Amino acid sequence: MTLEKKITIATLNKHKAAGEKFAMLTCYDATMASIQQDAGVEVILVGDSLAGPVLGLPDTIGVGLDISVSLTAAVRRGAPLAFLVADMPFMTYTSPAQAIANAGRYVVEARVDCVKIECDRRFIDIVRAMATVGISVMPHLGLTPQRAGQVGGYKVAGKTSAGAIEIIETAEIMVEAGASALLLEAVPPEPAEMLAKRVSVPVIGCGAGPGCDGFVVVTHDMIGLTEGHVPKFVRKYADLRAPMQQAFETYVTECQSGAYPAPEHGYAMSDEELSALKAWAGK
Ligand code: KIV
Repeated sequence: MTLEKKITIATLNKHKAAGEKFAMLTCYDATMASIQQDAGVEVILVGDSLAGPVLGLPDTIGVGLDISVSLTAAVRRGAPLAFLVADMPFMTYTSPAQAIANAGRYVVEARVDCVKIECDRRFIDIVRAMATVGISVMPHLGLTPQRAGQVGGYKVAGKTSAGAIEIIETAEIMVEAGASALLLEAVPPEPAEMLAKRVSVPVIGCGAGPGCDGFVVVTHDMIGLTEGHVPKFVRKYADLRAPMQQAFETYVTECQSGAYPAPEHGYAMSDEELSALKAWAGK
């Protein structure tokens, strides 16, 4: 199952052309990244969803560029073969020049394959500018969590025909401007599938139905580490919070009772050295 060669945009384009679906997961550290690479996860996203599980923030607005770049570089070290996508934080791509400078950090310092930006059609010049200088960019359309404060919450997008057409047309102009892939969040399956059929680039869905070319969810949600609300489009593949808590509880109990550490967890001195030590201590 482990990845055996570098996944590139050409690999994803080939999957799309062959009708082969692919998986993407979020990741924020090197250990998880290596497990995901060993499991054959071809695309890894260092999402700004790191806000909650890593930083303990209530939303993604406070994620900083420096920490995002550092964690992305750690993920790259853990999964050198995956197609790595970095999610640019809020306010780091407000003009073409700023977007290029900040995206360039992910490319140079973290060796990402692509950067993702939450956008709508007003970001066309930013996408074009990034693509022009050689940065692969993935516009994220539909529900864009960085705008939750502005629009009054996390709202499913494209439920009206006008809304769906807006998403499809925006996606098409983004592809014309040079987008390498698209991500659709919380969009009904019909417009998502129409879009995937209409554009040449891979369309990755997050709560956008089975017609997309690839699928992404937040890892902490799908392995049962998240406490509290999990979006309805997530399927839980494991329930790791309970066994982890159990392991921590057993450790606490054993530290308190003296059951841990046991002799096999220590470093032995030779009898001779031990005698010398005891003699020195006067025993
Ligand atoms: O930040 C993130 O993890 C995301 C995915 C949920 C698509 O943007």
